[in-house]
Order: sequence, then C-alpha cells, then structure tokens
Amino acid sequence: MPDNDAFVICQDLYKIFKVADIEVMALQGLDLTVMEGELVGVVGASGSGKTTLMNVLGGLTRPSAGTVLVDGENLLKLSTRELTNYRQVEVGFVWQQGSRNLIPYLSALDNIKLPMTLAGRAGGDIDRRARELMDKVELSDRYDHKPLQLSGGEQQRVAIAVALANEPKLLLADEPTGELDSATSDQVYALFQRLNREDGLTICIVSHDPQIAQHVGRVVAIRDGKLASETVRRRADSQQPADATAEASWEDRFEELIVLDSSGRLQIPKQFREELGFANRVEMEMTDDGGIVIRPAHNLEQTSSQAEIQLQREIRAGEDGRGRNWLRRRQA
Ligand SMILES: Nc1ncnc2c1ncn2[C@@H]1O[C@H](COP(=O)(O)OP(=O)(O)OP(=O)(O)O)[C@@H](O)[C@H]1O
Ligand SMILES: [Mg+2]
Repeated sequence: MPDNDAFVICQDLYKIFKVADIEVMALQGLDLTVMEGELVGVVGASGSGKTTLMNVLGGLTRPSAGTVLVDGENLLKLSTRELTNYRQVEVGFVWQQGSRNLIPYLSALDNIKLPMTLAGRAGGDIDRRARELMDKVELSDRYDHKPLQLSGGEQQRVAIAVALANEPKLLLADEPTGELDSATSDQVYALFQRLNREDGLTICIVSHDPQIAQHVGRVVAIRDGKLASETVRRRADSQQPADATAEASWEDRFEELIVLDSSGRLQIPKQFREELGFANRVEMEMTDDGGIVIRPAHNLEQTSSQAEIQLQREIRAGEDGRGRNWLRRRQA
C-alpha cells in the first residue's frame, strides 16, 4: 500500500479513559490506513473502540499515544484552535441519533446553513450551497421541514448534508443506520456510495451490520481496541455481472483476512482458540508451502515453571518491594 495515497494513517494508537481509579484502554495499539477516496466500513462488538476511533479521527478526542495523520496533518500536533478549525471544515460527522445531528427548531435548510455561518462563509453563498446539498441528498421538496416533520431516513440524509456543508474531504459516520429499517438503511448507504464515487469523498462508516461489506469497498473489524481482520471483495466479484453476484454465496464474494500489525502481532479469533484449546503459549512452525502453522504449546508446564523461575530471579535481583508483595499474594 503506497503511503502517498493514504488519507488517514493511524499508527500504534492508544486511548486510555480514567474514571475514578479505573482505567479503560479503549484503543490498544490500533493501526489503520484509509486510502484517499476509499469507502470503509468499521465493525466490532460493543465496547471494542469504534466510537473512540471515530472521535479521534474527528478531532473530538485526543489519543493518549500514537500517531494520527489525516490528509498529511498530524492531529496530535494541532493546537486547540487548529483542532476546532479541523472539526469545522476538514471533517464531517454523522451520528446514529438524528437528534444529535440536527437542531429540532431549525428547518432542514437552516440546519445545513448553520455550520457554514459558524465557519464564517458569506451569506448568499450559504443559501445557494444549502439548497444544492438538499438537492444532492434528494430532498428538494423538504427545504422547510423541521427534523420532526421528516422520516428517520430523511433526517439522516439531512444530517449527511449538514456534515458536508463546509466541504470536508473526510466523512465519518457512527452507526448512521442504527435506528433505520433495512430498506431505509440501503438508501442511506446508496447515498454514501454516490458521494464516494461522484465526489471522491473518503468515508468511514461504523456499523453493527455484518453485511455492511456489500455497501462499502472494505470492512475493518476492531477487537479489543485493535484492528483484528479485514473483509474485502474477492477480485472476481467486481468482474461478474450484478445478477450473477447476487446469486453467489457470501464466501464466494468476500474474504476475511487477519490483520498483521507493524510489529508482527495478529489476533487469533476466539472461536479458533477455544475450539483448539489454545492457552497463552503456542508453537509456531514454517511449512514448505510458504505458510506458518500455529499449534497449542505441548510443554505448557515447563513453560510456566520457567516463567516462575525467571520471575523469582528478577525479584531476588531487584529491590522492588511491590514485586515481592505480589509474589507473596500469588503464593498465598
Ligand atoms: N468518555 C469515556 N470515559 C470512560 N470510558 C469510556 C469513554 N468512552 C468510551 N469508554 C470506554 O471505552 C471502551 C470503548 O468504547 P467505544 O464507545 O469506543 O465502543 P464502541 O465500539 O463504539 O461500542 P458500541 O458498539 O457499543 O457503540 C468501552 O469500554 C467504554 O466503556
Ligand atoms: Mg459506539
């Protein structure tokens, strides 16, 4: 992947939240690259760090450590003022709840005008652009409707228009179809696809829908704050006629690849580990056909006793009282 076309680069990203005395690692060394003009889906279990990642990319949360480059700009180096500007014009955000995207007492048109006014754009220009955006999301007959007078799908389309008001190059959507039925969701996905194709917009969409791969170019799965796997369209899929691909099974059309991070780490899916009885040590072996086989370690007892001996050696050598207490507790 040549980095010169990469629009978003996250490297070894960490985000630690501290509430009272408890620390939560929402992101744990996450690596992600999104190319310019890509349409990417982000999936993962609840609590895996999807929203945290979107908030970091959107300049709403500062990561605890790591690198975040968006369009060549290092978000960690921006001052508070530069970050405010970044949020206003460089990136657009769409949330799951319509109420979070739109101001209830303003018309659709006025909702779209608001971010442009806040960014200091000239008046006539604002009105023209707001109407253009309503046309673009195919709501030309709803200019004066207030959010509550719109359906859920229409509200999300206005929300997308609001997010696009200041012509951002990156659009982030956090479960934009979470409250919509599947037919309405399809319409919203079709709009994202059109914006991606026609305007070259780089888009990241968080979803709980495992079928999101059908609507985007690539799906990345986050597990425990790290990128775990990627689902991509098989090459043949893009060459087949539409009705033939509709017949083909999911496995024929898409493949899931495990992500190997820059330090060579990968996550073995939980289901595999459980079925094969993997503990926390494995044996690894190269095969003649250019692969690697990973098996549960056979001599686990030896491995753990070696670790114990090493630990005792370290404790004897060091002055660290904490370690000694810890060992006493463990032995008790
Ligand atoms: N502001 C915060 N303060 C403390 N902990 C937080 C905060 N935001 C998120 N977390 C914790 O970080 C972890 C990741 O949260 P995040 O919201 O990113 O998950 P998610 O993948 O978006 O989940 P969901 O699918 O439920 O929306 C969770 O364990 C959550 O409790
Ligand atoms: Mg979330």
